[in-house]
Amino acid sequence: MTAPLTIALSKGRIFKETLPLLAAAGIVPVDDPETSRKLILDTGQPDVKLVVIRAADVPTYVQYGAADLGVTGKDVLLEHGGEGLYEPLDLRIARCRLMVAGRADQPPKPGRPRIATKYINTTRRYYAGQGRQVEVIKLYGSMELAPLVGLADYIVDVVDTGNTLKANGLVPLEHIADISSRLIVNKAAMKMKHARIKTVMERMATAVGA
Ligand code: ATP
Ligand code: PRP
Repeated sequence: MTAPLTIALSKGRIFKETLPLLAAAGIVPVDDPETSRKLILDTGQPDVKLVVIRAADVPTYVQYGAADLGVTGKDVLLEHGGEGLYEPLDLRIARCRLMVAGRADQPPKPGRPRIATKYINTTRRYYAGQGRQVEVIKLYGSMELAPLVGLADYIVDVVDTGNTLKANGLVPLEHIADISSRLIVNKAAMKMKHARIKTVMERMATAVGA
């Protein structure tokens, strides 16, 4: 009997874009994750399960070994810090950029600007690294609204097409990091389940390259 393998994923774009890569590793969910209310999904392989959780929780499940593997955005990993994890593979999906953005009609804010973001650790690190004083306000979504209603001077958020910024009269100002989704692995699982994890990693890597 082989050791069971648990893989943590979030619904939405990561799930959709990860499915073909998992399929290349022979892992196919039995139920449709978009319609199923189950949080643990069976796959065609009886000893491989998928857990479907919020995007920001994926590194935590993998860090503590509740999942052996996970797929998560580099933005989420930067914010989490990466403790207890290996990050062996860039899956090159859900690609975007983490950026500072502000109002198109606003002159640069002197003094200590307020920055609204869900990425508070990354944002503090970015400005501290530049020796710039800022006040960081934690939000959980719809960051683009904050500069429009005077909650913040700038936002830090992911940008892909730029359509969301544009639709709200905002412009990208500073590039913080290029983002894509990564395969992450629990450090202990990498040792204990090495052969199985290596096979999954190799097959996914081939699919990414293809
Ligand atoms: P939740 O739905 O739990 O609040 P979320 O909104 O961050 O989380 P998604 O929108 O599915 O979840 O984003 C998952 C990941 O996809 C992000 O962490 C980021 O790496 C990437 N991403 C986010 N927005 C975009 C985008 N517009 N284009 C490409 N990739 C994106
Ligand atoms: C993300 C992000 C931006 C938008 C950027 O939101 O938070 O708002 O995408 O993409 P764009 O540059 O192509 O417009 P998402 O669509 O995931 O909505 P959500 O954060 O509410 O889940």
